[in-house]
Amino acid sequence: MNYRKTNQGFKQKLFQEYLEIIKDLIEDETILEMDNYRQHGQVSTLVHSIYVSYSAFKIAKKLKLDYVSVARAGLLHDFYLYDWRKVKYEGTTHRKMHPKIALEKSKAKFTINQKEEDIILKHMFPVVLRTIPKYKESLLVSLVDKYCAIMEVLSPKKKYKLRSFHLKIQRQQALLFQ
Ligand SMILES: [Fe+2]
Ligand SMILES: [Fe+2]
Repeated sequence: MNYRKTNQGFKQKLFQEYLEIIKDLIEDETILEMDNYRQHGQVSTLVHSIYVSYSAFKIAKKLKLDYVSVARAGLLHDFYLYDWRKVKYEGTTHRKMHPKIALEKSKAKFTINQKEEDIILKHMFPVVLRTIPKYKESLLVSLVDKYCAIMEVLSPKKKYKLRSFHLKIQRQQALLFQ
């Protein structure tokens, strides 16, 4: 048995399953607008969100959690459309506000279940301590989000890997959904 081929086939299947789950989101123009804003390091908010969503999706599958909600809410967790360095809130911070904005925007555009709502709203845990996750899936996304943010800042090479992953998604989308 060719292990490498089998492994590649498995990865490809996993990737296609992921694409099917996020299909309506990744095709949405407002979601793609996230690519216009820088998140951590040199990575855009869209690429960061895909990184979080796909990484958390794979872990959720292994742990037999609700990987569909994890993938979808992972992609929406930072769905605010502005440069966080330039916006100042009175009496509060971007850190506390943006999950609420992301949820509001997500609800306005898509159907969001209770778990997805919790994942989006609580994703700043434990940085914002009061937002204690209600579900294992929420805790998973919040931890993966922190891991991805650190990797994006500390590992400049990651930027190219993530960008090419994003391009792969665009190519696959063209093949699968048109
Ligand atoms: Fe965030
Ligand atoms: Fe994030």
